[in-house]
Order: sequence, then structure tokens, then C-alpha cells
Amino acid sequence: MANQRATATAHANIAVVKYWGVADSALTLPYNESVSMNLDHCTTTTTVAFDGSLPADEVGIAWFGREMEEVTGQAYERVVAQLDRVRMRAGIEEWARVESANTFPADAGIASSASAFAALTTAAAGAAGLQLGEHELSILTRRSGSGSACRSIPPGFVHWRNDGTDAGSYAVSVAMPNDWALADVVAIVDTGPKSVGSAENHRLAVTSPYFKVRLQEVPARVNGCLRAIREHELATLGLIAEADAVSLHVVAMTAQPPTFYWRPGTLRVMQAVHDWRKEGFLSYWTMDAGANVHVLCAMSDAPAVAQRLEALPEVQFTITNGPGPGAYLHAE
Ligand code: PMV
Repeated sequence: MANQRATATAHANIAVVKYWGVADSALTLPYNESVSMNLDHCTTTTTVAFDGSLPADEVGIAWFGREMEEVTGQAYERVVAQLDRVRMRAGIEEWARVESANTFPADAGIASSASAFAALTTAAAGAAGLQLGEHELSILTRRSGSGSACRSIPPGFVHWRNDGTDAGSYAVSVAMPNDWALADVVAIVDTGPKSVGSAENHRLAVTSPYFKVRLQEVPARVNGCLRAIREHELATLGLIAEADAVSLHVVAMTAQPPTFYWRPGTLRVMQAVHDWRKEGFLSYWTMDAGANVHVLCAMSDAPAVAQRLEALPEVQFTITNGPGPGAYLHAE
């Protein structure tokens, strides 16, 4: 089955209850469930072409505003490992040429591995002729090692369910993109590379004495967020998102060795958002494993939030997102 190609697009996502800590690294099974929203302005589009004449897999990536660069090292190995999972499932042996393009800058601190591995898996499965539904695709994407990527497969607001088994750890939509006009305005305060990648910190999470506490708290947060999404309750969702982000960062800061992701600009944005709330201007923050801050608000308030954020000297630029669709194959 040489020379089969397919192109897929997937969106990055922001979690309001986060995945932090890996219970099984071989299968990427998390300790806890998580809840997220796909980001409509942060996408990866990937073409996979299996080609019998290639001597090895080739991987190229083009970040927003940059030329295509060849991917090497650990990042390359992770892509090859995911292609191997697809090849094994499809019973094919051809190497592939993979080309990806992102609509957001490399240094924006937006979790690019989620959209990258969701687009890669969708395109590779399509190119290999696998007919996978959303459920199977989210499981296969989860196994890539970027667990959060499984949440970029279904559309809109997404729940990564987990019963600790391979078959029972998958993502499902809990609301469609049009159901709730929620915005995520990303405030970029730091464009440097992350100090420690999330893969390593997922393994270190258990070394924090607060990890057990976090795991006790998470189920109530998951239920609270699912209810808030159903009932469009920004204040409930926002307060849970803030508490969960703090809990993740407390675990990171108290792991052995510890990681401090926050920068002065991170605290500046957190403080500003709290001050705005006191004025009655509803917005809430969350963060991933990095310094940049995601500000959640009603879509109707997003232009004002972006303007207020950009007025802070520590904020370099903002990216406004609404709820995004799931991963999809392009018509060839
Ligand atoms: O899926 P990973 O291994 O890239 O880890 C994602 C970790 C966080 O972004 C910090 C949290 C999350 O649930 O997205």
C-alpha cells in the first residue's frame, strides 16, 4: 500500500482541570481525569505520506512565520514511535514523510504537542487506511505520550475519562463549540523555552507530598467543571480552573527536583485579573506547564480583556480563542 497520503487538522486545547502525573508511561495513562476546551485559533495541520521509496521516516515542521525545519532528536523519535503504532495497527511497513504547519508561534507557550499529536495520529491513520472512530482515535492519540492530545480529537468542551485501563482512558465531548461562547485570551509574558518539559514532570509529580492531596481534590473539580460547562457558569468554571492550576503548580514546585514555571509577568496577570473581578469584570486565569497565562472570559468581553492584558508592560502579545472543533481529515 505504498504512496498513501492524508492531511488532518487539530486544535490545541486548554484544560480547566489538568492532567498532571502519569501512572503508566508506556500507555500514557493519567492518575486523574481532566476537562478542557479546544482552541479555535491554535491549530496544527499535518500531512502524512507513506512512501515505499523512503529509507526512513522524515519529519518537517513550519511554525507560524517560519520556514519548514526538519525535526530531529527526541521530538523526531516521538513522531516515529507514533507512526510505528499506526503502522503496526494497519499492518504496513512503509516509512512516511510528515509535514506539519502551526498557526501559532513556537514560543507562545501554548501546548503544541496536543494539536501536533492529534493531527499526526488522525493524518497517519487516514493515510494508512484505518477507519477509526473518535473513540479509538482518542485512545491511539493518547498513547503518543502527549496525553492531552487525546482531548484534541473530539470537538468543543472535552472530558478525558479514565478508569486506569487502556480501553477506559479516552476523551469525549461534553458540549459542542457553539454551545457556549467562552473565550480563552492567552497572555504571552515569556517567549523562552520551558525549563523542564512536561513529560519529565509527569513522572516527577508523585515525588511531591501534595500530589496525593491534588488527587483527592480533582474528582470534585471535574464534576464541578462538567456541571459549569452544561450550565454556562463562568464564575464556577473560572474559580475551579484557578484552584486546579495552583494545585498543579504547587505539585511542580514541591517535586524532587522542583520546577518553578512562573515569571514576574505570570503574577502580574494573575493580580490584574483578580483586580478586574473586584470591579465586576469577570475573568479567570489558568496556566499550563509554563509561564504564560490563559484568561477565561465571556467571548463578548474578550476584546476588552485582550486590550487590558496588552496594556500590562509584561504582556508581549495575546491570542484570543473561542471553543474549537475536533480533529478532522481534509478531503484529498
Ligand atoms: O499531554 P502533555 O504530556 O503535553 O501534558 C500536558 C500537561 C498540561 O498542559 C500542563 C496540563 C493539561 O492537562 O493540558
